[in-house]
Amino acid sequence: MVEPKIELRNLAKTFQLAQGQSRHVVDNVSFSAQPGEFVAVIGPSGCGKSTMFNIMAGLETPTSGEVLVDGKVVTGESEHFAYMPQKDLLFPWRTILENTALGLEVRGMKKKEARAKAADLFATFGLAGFENAHPFELSGGMRQRAALLRTVVQSRDVLLLDEPFGALDSLTRLEMQSWLQGVWSENSWTAVLITHDIREAIYLADRVIVLSARPTTVRLDIKIDLPRPREVGMITTPQFADYEKELIDTLHEESRKAMAQQMPTAV
Ligand SMILES: Nc1ncnc2c1ncn2[C@@H]1O[C@H](COP(=O)(O)OP(=O)(O)OP(=O)(O)O)[C@@H](O)[C@H]1O
Ligand SMILES: [Mg+2]
Repeated sequence: MVEPKIELRNLAKTFQLAQGQSRHVVDNVSFSAQPGEFVAVIGPSGCGKSTMFNIMAGLETPTSGEVLVDGKVVTGESEHFAYMPQKDLLFPWRTILENTALGLEVRGMKKKEARAKAADLFATFGLAGFENAHPFELSGGMRQRAALLRTVVQSRDVLLLDEPFGALDSLTRLEMQSWLQGVWSENSWTAVLITHDIREAIYLADRVIVLSARPTTVRLDIKIDLPRPREVGMITTPQFADYEKELIDTLHEESRKAMAQQMPTAV
């Protein structure tokens, strides 16, 4: 058995609120991803998915539990993951090249070197010729690719993508999914993708994890045995439909619990 690239061990998070109250968000999340594996995570809105990513990326501390990369505990460290947060906005006053090089510059790389490194990826990301454009000049899909470029240029082999295509129309989304599959298979990234879109999860992932309502824990972890490269036509096959049904049934159960929690009396 190959050592997992990343592993979460019994991760838990309780936020302390005002007046001595607390909110138990992540209960006991454990899962791992093998090197080069694509894992999709779905779960009801508000269950704790982004909180889990923030912990992995070292932006939040867990109440208990550990994050491991290549078998080593890295809890609280920030340099192991290329993280694209849920709302990864481009700065409107910066050009696309300046936006995409920013992360490297913040890490101390010289401006010229950072920009050259980002510029090298523009063709792969379908952005050639838009280096000096501003975000408002780009389509929604192009902006998402620019945000992904900014994430990927950090040269880390684990990607954490929090709903990268959430704001796109379904056709653009489909194109972006097939494009992401292409760049993922050309690089040897291990990827964890949070999505609300069950089809996106099945289409892209080797495994899909369903998280429970808050406080969240792993409710289901299934392997997607579809051949690669995935093609859009697979969406209509019986095998795809079976995966979809299993995931929808579990997710609906958890979403109903989550809705009940969101009543005004719930903390
Ligand atoms: N800093 C914080 N302090 C207190 N509560 C927080 C904090 N951050 C998140 N929460 C709470 O944790 C819960 C989970 O939030 P989180 O953003 O992780 O959910 P999510 O699963 O990513 O939701 P969505 O699918 O809507 O993006 C929510 O109830 C949220 O209010
Ligand atoms: Mg979220």
